Amino acid sequence: MKTIIEPFRIKSIEPIRFTTYEERKHILIEAGYNPFLIRADDVLIDLLTDSGTSAMSAKQWAGIMEGDESYAGSRSFFRFENAVRKITGDKFIIPTHQGRAAEKILFFILGGEGKFIPNNTHFDTTRANIEFTGAEAVDLLNETGKHPEIRADFKGNMDIAALEKFILDKKPENIPLVMITITNNSGGGQPVSMQNIREVKEVCKKYNLPLFLDACRFAENAYFIKRREKGYENKSVLEIAQEIFSYADGATMSAKKDALVNIGGFLSLNDEKLAAKCRNLLIVTEGFPTYGGLAGRDLEAVAQGLEEVVDEHYLQYRIRSTEYLGEKILEAGIPIIEPPGGHAIYIDAKRFLPNIPPREYPGQSIVCELYLEGGVRSVEIGSVMFGKYDKATGKLIPPPMELVRLAIPRRVYTQSHIDFVAEVVIEVFKKRNELKGYEIIEEAPALRHFTAKFKPIGN
Ligand code: F0G
Repeated sequence: MKTIIEPFRIKSIEPIRFTTYEERKHILIEAGYNPFLIRADDVLIDLLTDSGTSAMSAKQWAGIMEGDESYAGSRSFFRFENAVRKITGDKFIIPTHQGRAAEKILFFILGGEGKFIPNNTHFDTTRANIEFTGAEAVDLLNETGKHPEIRADFKGNMDIAALEKFILDKKPENIPLVMITITNNSGGGQPVSMQNIREVKEVCKKYNLPLFLDACRFAENAYFIKRREKGYENKSVLEIAQEIFSYADGATMSAKKDALVNIGGFLSLNDEKLAAKCRNLLIVTEGFPTYGGLAGRDLEAVAQGLEEVVDEHYLQYRIRSTEYLGEKILEAGIPIIEPPGGHAIYIDAKRFLPNIPPREYPGQSIVCELYLEGGVRSVEIGSVMFGKYDKATGKLIPPPMELVRLAIPRRVYTQSHIDFVAEVVIEVFKKRNELKGYEIIEEAPALRHFTAKFKPIGN
């Protein structure tokens, strides 16, 4: 088989800025050893997130010029509505400025004290929007999904038995909806199988509960189904996506991922009464229902992006380039969540730095070193992001995993960029015995990872 190539050529480029090791040392100190506080111009290769960082196509940029900026009834809205409906099959399509705005509207209406919302794994904004209403967000991931070193095809699957038990324990009337996140971002970008989605739907039907998808990376998930699930090898990704959505009563989506745009999102659903409530809230918080906090040009770019993302040459390149990075660093003996996910590689910091305990933030140590070594920006997903303090003892309660995410922006970096990233990771791994733990010297009461300042221990 020949090399899988980028299925595009480059028409417009953006220079990236090189810095020296000495400069990066200084920049890192200035940023309090927190990569969120580094200026993007000081980063060579930015793997902080795959969200809103896609390169748009010539047709999407043409759509930007075509955008109809009418306040009501914009032509661009109808193109957007058709593009979303073609995939989800839903009756009501509500644009929002990004994914969390769709979540806020949905949970403001369906959440509240005494309610429980299960998911395979809630993304942090989903959890935050649920908990903000007083409801409880609960993760019911299958067991293999919790073990980084186990290789399995669908580690994003929901634990069906646990779901049914949960519904019986909490009572169906206290569960306004069940959610599935495709792919499972917080669990390593791992896909969910069609069979699992069908089984979740069966349980939902039995207890008369609506099923919603957190569909940010639906095309990547559909492509994994095509490659890994029996019976889907000859179906198109669009058909697979349509089948996925056919089991759902609705979806929230951040278009900043699989719609290949820099801003946007939507809420898609079938229940007319619920849709009317959502639209009323949308008008108060986002905008009129034919633009929902977006410009007409943004709606055009989303519509075009949704057509491009189901292209199988694109998805083959996309999934392969993530896997390629994973394989290169695995070959060097570096522990990651296996197999590689769709949008990112997650380094297992616990096994990478076994001598640095969670309370000294091993993930943060790797993140800092990747920046120092090669100007590569990544993000800690471990005790910095999810750690809580025990109220009585003040001790850190670490989450189950300490990870460093290398998220790959869509259509942005070439194979040589990825080779370079692998070299940087391997170099840091060779130096792992010299790496230090960190302590937090300043932090906010909530979502501390965005603004916290750190200090290396022993300096
Ligand atoms: N759901 C999932 C699974 C996500 O990954 C994200 C965003 C959201 C919802 C919220 O969407 O940012 O448009 O409001 N994930 C980004 C990330 C931020 O870096 O993984 P948003």
